[in-house]
Amino acid sequence: MYSSGKLRIDELTPEESSVYATLKPERMPEHVAIIMDGNGRWAGSRSMKRFIGHQQGAKSVQLVTETASRIGLPWLTLYAFSLENNLRRPRAEVNFLMRLLRTYLETNVQRMNDNNVRMQYIGRIHELPPEVQDKMHWAEQATAANTGTTLTLALNYGGRSELVDAFRSLAAEMKLKNLSPDRISEEDIHRHLYTAHMPDPDLLIRTSGEMRLSNYLLWQVAYTEIFVTDRLWPDFRGVNLLEAIGEFQCRERRFGGLGQDSGEVDEETERAKIVAN
Ligand code: FPP
Repeated sequence: MYSSGKLRIDELTPEESSVYATLKPERMPEHVAIIMDGNGRWAGSRSMKRFIGHQQGAKSVQLVTETASRIGLPWLTLYAFSLENNLRRPRAEVNFLMRLLRTYLETNVQRMNDNNVRMQYIGRIHELPPEVQDKMHWAEQATAANTGTTLTLALNYGGRSELVDAFRSLAAEMKLKNLSPDRISEEDIHRHLYTAHMPDPDLLIRTSGEMRLSNYLLWQVAYTEIFVTDRLWPDFRGVNLLEAIGEFQCRERRFGGLGQDSGEVDEETERAKIVAN
């Protein structure tokens, strides 16, 4: 794992710098994904309308992205609006989130460029209102030449619908090339995901304490380390991203193999243990 973006450590806040100093540069994640949860609770606990929570959440998006760009994180993927949010939330809230997204893009593209951040999207984007799609394409184009962090917003996104879309597209390719289904490999499925051009996330952060994946990047998180914090998304800042990376660096990743301290596996001893039990 490594960071390929350019480091701008001198731009970190003093608090961020002191956490960053404890991190191991050789064990930085390449891709961090975040389930941003708790905007509604943040507002509710202050007797404010949910909308205010979303507005504050949008500020966190910008601040966390800027910290990610300063530490040279190559990929940051944020769950901004799920397919289920689109179907199940009151229309007024969905409309507000769409307006907030447009305003967010309009007002933050300059800051994205100042931070060398490239914006991309995953999800069923074509189902979003045309004026929102226009603004999204504009922001993507305006930041396309940036070479630092790629900020991917998952919008009208669902992990299962991504798999449906991938299988449809793979089936069409196989039909065209007259290929047999038993030739399908994991690599073929990966090639047809929205995230085909990215590495899988190393770290998945979820705010607000819920222990769920909520249909996020289901295929991609097979071996991702999960970090859940009780902190609500509008209170989440760059320093909290760095703390989560610190915790990630303490984990031992095995990818289904054995840990470093497991020692040699002596087949005879293992067999003897099984017999003895
Ligand atoms: C969860 O809060 C958050 C969302 C519905 C999506 C995230 C949206 C934002 C961070 C705001 C806008 C983002 C951009 C990119 C402009 P919730 O309403 O589910 O919170 P609750 O569980 O406390 O009710």
